[in-house]
Amino acid sequence: MTCVAISRPGPPTVLVPEQRDIPRPEPGEVVIRVAAAGVNYPDVLQRQGRYAVPPDASDLPGLEVAGTVAAVGSDVGDLKVGDAVCALTHGGGYAEYCRAPVEQCLPIPANVTMAEAATLPEVYFTIWFNLAMQGDLLNARRLLVHGGSGGIGSATIQLASALGVEVFTTASSDEACDFCRELGASVAINYRQQDFFEVVRDKTGGEGVDLVLDIVGGDYIQRNIDCLAQKGRLVNLYYLQGSKVQIDMMPVLVKNLILTGSLLRPQPLTVKAQIAAGLQKTVWPLFAAGKIRSVVDQTFPLNRAAEAHALMEGRKHAGKIVLLTDYGQQLQSA
Ligand SMILES: NC(=O)c1ccc[n+]([C@@H]2O[C@H](COP(=O)([O-])OP(=O)(O)OC[C@H]3O[C@@H](n4cnc5c(N)ncnc54)[C@H](OP(=O)(O)O)[C@@H]3O)[C@@H](O)[C@H]2O)c1
Repeated sequence: MTCVAISRPGPPTVLVPEQRDIPRPEPGEVVIRVAAAGVNYPDVLQRQGRYAVPPDASDLPGLEVAGTVAAVGSDVGDLKVGDAVCALTHGGGYAEYCRAPVEQCLPIPANVTMAEAATLPEVYFTIWFNLAMQGDLLNARRLLVHGGSGGIGSATIQLASALGVEVFTTASSDEACDFCRELGASVAINYRQQDFFEVVRDKTGGEGVDLVLDIVGGDYIQRNIDCLAQKGRLVNLYYLQGSKVQIDMMPVLVKNLILTGSLLRPQPLTVKAQIAAGLQKTVWPLFAAGKIRSVVDQTFPLNRAAEAHALMEGRKHAGKIVLLTDYGQQLQSA
């Protein structure tokens, strides 16, 4: 099969196509004939040599794919060869075939193409675990999400507003703010022009929001805490601007707050199975009903993965970036 490997740590051009054997499924796994693979920021970090790949994972980048089941191991339940699935992988998605544990596979929702389906697992497993299972999204009235025009942000805005939550978001330009409003955000704040804490305070009559989803960290941490209403929850998925800060923790005590965060990849398969069940029950029907959609910024053929990485690092994308295999391109033009 053709895959794209990291020839050495470095710039996007170190991503090079090569030929390898098609993987075989272990017990509890399937091998997927990949139509499309989602590109995620950890892939960029892995390429740069700044991401610790677990020792039992594929050395190839690629954390999510969509395609059809090509082979099954033992103990895979009802999954069978030919089923259309999208899946979280244990690396190895930048390839024509890829292994995935059965707990990390989901059917492709109705009305969703292969390219769109490849953008769903990483983002939706992450936000369902963090927002619904840890952040009690279903009981939130208001949510603030940072990086609203990115992959995590654009999905969070849509999901939360489809569930009836009032969404506040931040982005770096007026165009990105317009995009966030189109997705369902009630209030989109250009953080280069306005202080998000002041806007949240003013628009909520001083009450604040019930939930904050943040990837920025740094000097956002104090302002996130200050934005929270009584019994609010702050969930951090990353700290792009740093994780070491000096802050006043007193509001945590006074407002009875919860500060949390998590990494999706090391979660046990039992937790991933619970997340998958929640997605299939509550979120996948929203795709079928046309209430939420995948936002694909651009697709690239698999062997042009370097260009996809350059686009992501340039931060000019809105939504997700996808790689299509030859199989995926055939399906798209059929
Ligand atoms: N914990 C987990 O399990 C988990 C899982 C998946 C992803 N993540 C993390 O979540 C983050 C977002 O992922 P994504 O797929 O949404 O990435 P993305 O598509 O690149 O979007 C990130 C957004 O954040 C904003 N941003 C980027 N750098 C920034 C900075 N230095 N300061 C402020 N804002 C910045 C950008 O918007 P503006 O240009 O408008 O500011 C961008 O749209 C990544 O850091 C990723 O590693 C964590």
